[in-house]
Formats: sequence, structure tokens, C-alpha cells
Amino acid sequence: MSNRPYIVGNWKMNGIRAMLAEARAIERGAGRYPEVQVGLAPPFTLVQAMAEQVGALETGGQDCHVAVKGAHTGDISAAMLADAGAHFVIVGHSERRRDHGETDGLVKAKAEAALAAGLGVIICVGETLEERDAGRAEAVVQGQVAGSLPDLADEGQAAKVAVAYEPVWAIGTGRVAAVDDVVAMHGAIGKTLAGALGEAGPSVRILYGGSVNADNARDLLAAEGVDGALVGGASLTAESFLAIVAAAA
Ligand code: G3H
Repeated sequence: MSNRPYIVGNWKMNGIRAMLAEARAIERGAGRYPEVQVGLAPPFTLVQAMAEQVGALETGGQDCHVAVKGAHTGDISAAMLADAGAHFVIVGHSERRRDHGETDGLVKAKAEAALAAGLGVIICVGETLEERDAGRAEAVVQGQVAGSLPDLADEGQAAKVAVAYEPVWAIGTGRVAAVDDVVAMHGAIGKTLAGALGEAGPSVRILYGGSVNADNARDLLAAEGVDGALVGGASLTAESFLAIVAAAA
């Protein structure tokens, strides 16, 4: 890992106020690994409370609208997340691409809105099993990266951007991608980033996501080109999430 390890928990649609106790336990445990940057993205309803109560961790949103404000019932803007104390936002998760028809163009606009609001942004990409079986995984993911990357106001903004490679078939299935395949894909993503951003490309961190747990984290995080992990199910308890944070240290 050439960049500072970055471990982010995505709670998805899990978490009521009682779970803030788990977040506080994660904060206490993560304090033992200051070399690891740790973030948690709870549902919108918990963002402000988590940011206030768990200040040593970075709090994030799981999505944002492209506009700053307006008539968009049910949506939340990046500026609102920042106002609630968030540090970053996840955009383009495959569950949003699937459930809400989000396209690369929309994800790019969301990433630009996030940066404009001063947030870091994690852009999710990943192929389906059909695309992998058809030998198209690299082309699909490189296309998603190229189409979803924000136009940067300056090169320094690259450090606020991360790409999370999450093969769709590995999410929540217990079927983790082979380390060799992760290395190959992260290399391909790195090439796309270099093509799009030039010298700023390596400042964009590349995370792996998809069934990361305490048992497989060490091998994945030690792999070439893996700067961290985006963790779903295993981020819901302090015990399993901290084991992944420890593996990154
Ligand atoms: O955002 C997180 C990913 O979708 C991974 O989820 O760790 O439950 O497979 P998972």
C-alpha cells in the first residue's frame, strides 16, 4: 500500500440510534491504529449523531443528490451532509445503480457535487457475474471509472477521491474475489486513472469491497494496488470491523 490505508464501513440500510454504541466501540478500538484512516457510513438518519458522538472517525453518507437544494422529495444534498458533519459520501454503489437506475453520468455529477461541498467521495464500480464470465470485467470496470470520475477543480482534489472496486457477485455473498483478480483489476483501474488524471492519478485511492471479513482482509489488504477496503456486513459489529482495521495496520 503506497497510500495511507483507508477502511470504510458501509452500514447500508442498517442502524438505529442504539447502534451508535457500536460506532463508539469502533472509535475506541480504531484509536489503536492511528496509521489507518477509518470511516463509517451509516444511514442518513444517523449521520449527524454519529459525526457528533464519534468524532475521531470519519462519518459519511451513502448517496447524495447532484443539486445543492430544491424540489427533490426524499433526497439529500452533499451540502446537507457536510452541514450534518459528514466528511465523505459514497456514490454509485451497485445497489443504487441496480435499485435506482444510476448511470455513470449521474454518478460523475454526484461526485462533483460532493467535492464542491468539500466532501471526500468514494466512487463504486464493479462488474456482474455475467460480465466476468463473458471476459468483459476489465472493460466494464474501466468504462465505469472513466465515466464516473469527476472533473477536478485542481490536482489536489484527487486525494479526496477514492474508487471502490466491488464485483457485484462478491457483495454480501461470502464469495470474495481472488487476490490475483483484485490485483489485476486494481492495476487496470490505476491505468484508467492515470489516463484521465495524469500525475494526479496515483493520489486516488483504490479500495476493494465484496465479502471482506476478518479472515480474508489481511491477504486482500497486502495485495499490490489495494489501498483499503469498503466493508458492508462485517462493519456492523466492532469486533469484526476492528479485525479488518487491524489487518490494514
Ligand atoms: O459497500 C460495501 C459493499 O457492498 C460490500 O458489502 O462486505 O457485505 O459484501 P459486503
